[in-house]
Amino acid sequence: MTKLAIYPGSFDPITNGHVDILHRSLAMFDKVVVAIAENVRKAPLFTIEERKRHIREAVGNDPRVEVDAFEGLLHEYVKKRGARVVVRGLRALADFEYEFQLAHMNRRLGGQMETIFLMTSEKDFFVSSSLVKEVAQFGGDVTGLVPPLVQQELEQKVRRST
Ligand code: PNS
Repeated sequence: MTKLAIYPGSFDPITNGHVDILHRSLAMFDKVVVAIAENVRKAPLFTIEERKRHIREAVGNDPRVEVDAFEGLLHEYVKKRGARVVVRGLRALADFEYEFQLAHMNRRLGGQMETIFLMTSEKDFFVSSSLVKEVAQFGGDVTGLVPPLVQQELEQKVRRST
């Protein structure tokens, strides 16, 4: 039986921290679906198609990774995909409360689903999509924080908006 995990998030954009969590989850699962949530509260910088392209580019041609998007509740998507496990990255203390709420709400909504947390590597523990966007928007250097294609497209978006 294929060991399947869902790695959900906004990925707006994918960072090297996300890529690290994805690689580490592939050491435990046969297949990981990177699932972009379409209806999160935040107004996205990148479209779903752009984000899918960034993720595909960042993982190369690994057949164990599928990139998908979903609307609605995560636990319903997980069930639809025939999965039981959701993977989330955990950075420093600030993530804990939100992730704790998310995991418990998901468990309440869909009893079958289990969330596992992988601690981000020490080199990535301060990296978040929102901080990366902010740094790029003010002309800061995001080299090494995001995959090269994301860096290039972030810089293009900033240039276009100034
Ligand atoms: O990368 P993010 O923004 O931290 O990811 C959050 C995400 C997308 C995993 C979460 O907002 C989510 O699961 N959204 C789908 C809608 C849903 O199920 N909400 C209730 C979860 S408690």
